[in-house]
Amino acid sequence: MSVKIILTEPNKILRQISKPIEGVGIVEQNLMCDMLETMYAANGIGLAAIQIGIPKRIIVIDISKDENKKEPIYFVNPTVKNKNSEKATYEEGCLSVPDQFAEIERPNRCEVEYLDYNGKKQLLKAEGLLATCIQHEMDHLEGILFIDYLSKLKKSMIIKKLSKTKSNRIIV
Ligand code: NI
Repeated sequence: MSVKIILTEPNKILRQISKPIEGVGIVEQNLMCDMLETMYAANGIGLAAIQIGIPKRIIVIDISKDENKKEPIYFVNPTVKNKNSEKATYEEGCLSVPDQFAEIERPNRCEVEYLDYNGKKQLLKAEGLLATCIQHEMDHLEGILFIDYLSKLKKSMIIKKLSKTKSNRIIV
């Protein structure tokens, strides 16, 4: 496993639409492990493969608060079956939009069908933070970032700010 560099906005790769994968094999499992390690290293609670430059429909999420009890969930080819009309608002951030936060409203529940780490079909009924996180990550698969939901002015201010900071800076 290794920690990968997380791409940051503005970067055209983040706007790509990710492709479904045919099955879960060792390549996909290794990718999921790298994604999880990268996400933990960056203190994130979710990561999509495109954020490390790989346009595959894979997401990892871990919203557990306890450092010693990790609870990762791996989603391959996730599709949302059902969304609630009730909304929830969370202040969202994104590892690809560093140090920027905004309140985003999304359905407060959703049902997701996906393949797990072992390629087994799963159905998950999510609500609250997990539902928001899943929807945020699934947006990445379509090339959508949370700042796309903001006003044009707010969005362009954020992108301008991010353009000034060196993207993908590494300190070794
Ligand atoms: Ni994100």
